Amino acid sequence: MIRIGRRVKGIIERDKKVIFTTTRSLYPFVADRFDGYYAYDIEGNKFLDFSTFISIYNFGREGLELARRAIKLQVDKLMHSAFQDFYAELPVVTAEKLISLLPNGFGRVFFSNSGTEANEDAIKLARLFTKRPYLLAFYNSFHGRSLGSLSMTSSKVAQRAHLGPFVGFYHAFYPNPYRCPFHSSSPEECAEESLDFIENFLFRKVVSPEEIAGIFVEPVQGEGGYIVPPKEFIIGLRKLADEHNILLIDDEIQAGLMRTGKFVAMDHFGVKADIYTFAKALGGGLPLGATVAKRSLGDTPEGSHAGTFGGNLLSIAASNALLDYIKRNRAKLEQMAARKGSMILKRLNEMRESYELVGDARGLGMMLAIELVKSKESKEPATKEREAVLNKCFEKGLILLGSGESSIRIIPAITMPEELINKGLDVLEEAIKEVSNKGA
Ligand SMILES: Cc1ncc(COP(=O)(O)O)c(C=O)c1O
Repeated sequence: MIRIGRRVKGIIERDKKVIFTTTRSLYPFVADRFDGYYAYDIEGNKFLDFSTFISIYNFGREGLELARRAIKLQVDKLMHSAFQDFYAELPVVTAEKLISLLPNGFGRVFFSNSGTEANEDAIKLARLFTKRPYLLAFYNSFHGRSLGSLSMTSSKVAQRAHLGPFVGFYHAFYPNPYRCPFHSSSPEECAEESLDFIENFLFRKVVSPEEIAGIFVEPVQGEGGYIVPPKEFIIGLRKLADEHNILLIDDEIQAGLMRTGKFVAMDHFGVKADIYTFAKALGGGLPLGATVAKRSLGDTPEGSHAGTFGGNLLSIAASNALLDYIKRNRAKLEQMAARKGSMILKRLNEMRESYELVGDARGLGMMLAIELVKSKESKEPATKEREAVLNKCFEKGLILLGSGESSIRIIPAITMPEELINKGLDVLEEAIKEVSNKGA
């Protein structure tokens, strides 16, 4: 059992006085050290990590070591090269590598510092390339918190409350197979209804498709609860976009970089986007965002967009090392994510069968989640019980993150040994059992 002492409590008290309340975890984890699989707090408590610090350390110990080494080498050479004003070698090399990992025809890269910025850049590119004013996004999505990206984000009211008016976005329904907004009888039918709503309602009664610059979509909704849409939906979106000359913009910020087993999760659906956005794992722990657009879309007019720190050499050095690693090990990582992902999903499904509290188990590759419900029949979100499970796991030395209203994401490093993964799943199951027996 983890014991929390005065040092941890002291930092949390001081934090509350000087740091704005954000979305910090409900349990008292004060991070100090990380070795790729285990995280340590400032009192030396050791935790198995199933969070990858929000999908950052996808490649565990190996990725961490490579990024650290690259950063250490670069730090003594040059950290900031004013990449918006001067040329530099490393960002060009890194952009070439990123492009080489994407489907043919890509592209041009704009480097930024975060996911929300990568999406802001995509909004601007879509408007610049099409000269159309509006965009389309999906309910329950998360695309970031700066005002453009926040205009798309709609996974929690708290994220938007008192922050409008927003930039010109329309929203449509994402076909959640477990909770279809249309109450359809199958995931395929749900996908059909979702597409039909756009084509036959939104585009007929609300906005002309000729005014839509781009459709923004997460191939797997992340913050919204790790929702994997039916294949037909993503395929249908591509068709819809083509019919109306709308750009399809794929937000790979959480699902990309091999998390689902593919470099871009959209590859699972056999669909190519026109613009891809990346961040999170891309910088190996340092801030880095990238927006990559199909070369045939053209270039941006000189002076139309820039940022001081985009492409800073420390983040880029880490990214360059990681992209090299992915290129060398792509097939191996793909197999690893598929094998371990199905092993985890099997165990999550067993939990679903054994406990009334576990309503759904789902995922793609190693982007997995369970959704907790008061009862399988009512499907009422068990938010308090979710908190109790997360707390119990913490007390037993396992770090996990929630997602959506009552889901728990399971996102260990893709390279985490199976023995450790099973150890973490044992802890999770024990916590679910205790909360099922005793309540939240
Ligand atoms: C799919 C997706 N897009 C965008 C973002 C925003 O990224 P950032 O927090 O780096 O701004 C996130 C963050 O969770 C995300 O999951």
